[in-house]
Amino acid sequence: MTHPFESRLSRRSLLWAGGAALAASAVGGGPGGAASIAAPRPATADGDLVEVELVARQRFQRILAEPAGPSPLITYAERFPGPVIRMRKGQRLRATLVNELEEHTSIHWHGIRLPNAEDGVPFLTQPATKPGERHVYEFTPPDSGSFFFHPHCNTVELLGRGLAGALIVEEEGGPEFDADLVCMIKDWILDKTGAFGAFTSDRGASRAGTFGGVSTVNGLIEPVIDVPANGDVRARFYNVDSSRVIDLKVEGADAWIIAVDGNPLPPRPLDGWPMGPAMRVDVVFRAPREAGRTIRLLNVYSAEPKPLAVFRAAGPSLPNKRFAPRALPAADIPKPDLRNAQVIPMAFSATAVAQVFDEALLTTLPYADSLCLSQKTFWAINQQSWPEGGHERLPPPITTLELGRSYVFELANLTPHLHPIHIHGYTFSVLSSDQRKVVPHHADTVLLEPKERLRVAIKADNPGDWMFHCHIIEHQDTGMMGYIRVA
Ligand code: C2O
Ligand code: CU
Repeated sequence: MTHPFESRLSRRSLLWAGGAALAASAVGGGPGGAASIAAPRPATADGDLVEVELVARQRFQRILAEPAGPSPLITYAERFPGPVIRMRKGQRLRATLVNELEEHTSIHWHGIRLPNAEDGVPFLTQPATKPGERHVYEFTPPDSGSFFFHPHCNTVELLGRGLAGALIVEEEGGPEFDADLVCMIKDWILDKTGAFGAFTSDRGASRAGTFGGVSTVNGLIEPVIDVPANGDVRARFYNVDSSRVIDLKVEGADAWIIAVDGNPLPPRPLDGWPMGPAMRVDVVFRAPREAGRTIRLLNVYSAEPKPLAVFRAAGPSLPNKRFAPRALPAADIPKPDLRNAQVIPMAFSATAVAQVFDEALLTTLPYADSLCLSQKTFWAINQQSWPEGGHERLPPPITTLELGRSYVFELANLTPHLHPIHIHGYTFSVLSSDQRKVVPHHADTVLLEPKERLRVAIKADNPGDWMFHCHIIEHQDTGMMGYIRVA
C-alpha cells in the first residue's frame, strides 16, 4: 500500500496518485469487507506521452455489506472509481479503449477542450466502437483541472453501473497541498441482494430522474478517509450520479472552493454550491490537528442532510500554519468578446405530448443504433427533441456558430425541474441569472434552476459538431440533447 498522503512527497511520487488518494476504510455497518480501495496501477509516466488502456467490461465489486453479494459493475479498471489518470499540463494523452462489452461504446472526455474527432460521440464524431474492437484517443488537454470520462450511449445503464474514470491534469506551479484526494460521489440503484434495479422509468425520465438508494463515495458507503493531521487537503469532489444534486458541506472544518469543473475560482468559503450530475468542485480544507479526530462530509441539498463520508486525521500533526487558501493559476480559456457577441436563446422545455417512436422503425433504420435513440421523448431544446423529424438521418444542429465569433447563450428553463446543461469541447463563461446572484466563473456544466434564465458565453474557437445536453442522463436520453455546429 502506498503512503496515504502522496502529495507531500515529491512531484514524481504525486504522479503515482490515485490509489493512495482513494485509500479509505469502511465504517462499521458499512460495506462488508471493503477495508480499502486497492491502488489502481499508476497510469502516468514522466515523459511527454501518457499512455493508458481502458478495458470496458463487467467486473464484480462489493457495494453492499453481506449478506448481499458483490454487484455486477461495468468499469474501465479493476475497481470503481477507476482509473484515475493523472498527468501534467502539457503532456499528451494516448488512451486506448478496449470494448469488452456486449454493446458498442465510446469514451467522451467530459470538460476537455479537445479536437472534435477525439470527443467520443458515436456517429457524430466517430464510428461507435463495436464489441471486441479498440479505439485510440489522442490529445493534449489544454487546461489543468479535475475532469472525467464516460460513455455516450446507453449511458443510463453504463454510468449507472459505474463506467466512469477521472482525468486529472495538474497545474504548473500554484499552491501546494498536503494531500490531494479524488472523491467520486454516486448513488447506486441496487436491491437487497446487490443486483441492479431498473435504471430508468417513464416517471423518472419525465420528472427529476430515477434515484438510487445507496449513496457512496468512491464506491464505499460512508467511508472513513484518512487525511494528514493538521494538513491542508485538496479534495476533488465529483458528482458522477445520473440524477442527484449534491450541495456539499464539510462539517467541523474551514472548507473553501478553489475550482469549479476543474476551472480555478478565486477561493471562497464552501457554502451553497449545488452540483448537478457531472459537475465538480475542488475544495481545500484543514484537517483536524489531532490524529483520530474526524470531520464529516454531508450532502445538504435536501432538507435531511445526508452523510457521505468521514475524514479522519492521521499521522503526526503537521506544523501549524495559517489556513489561507491560495488561488490556483488562472486558466487560459478564450475570453468571449461580450460587446460583439450574438445572443442565442436556448429554451429547455417538456414536450407537449410524450412522443413514442415505432419500435419497428427504430430497429430498421440504419442509424438508429448509432444515434443512441430511445423510444420516447419527454424533453426538447428549442422545441426540437433529439432526434428530430424521423431517424433517416442525423438531425440538424440546434444552431450553427461562426468560427472565431463570440456568443451568449440565454439558457431558459421552462420546466419546474432542474437541468444541469453541458456543452462539449468548450468551457462556458457563466455571466448572470434572472433569479440569483451569480459568481462569475468558468464551467462545462451549469445547473439551471426551475424557471431560471441563465446567461453563459463562449468564444467559438473550436470547430466541429459539439453535443449540448442535459446531464440528468434520463433527460438526455429522452430528448434534451442536440448539437451545436461551429464552422
Ligand atoms: Cu459528460 Cu455529453 O457528457
Ligand atoms: Cu434535465
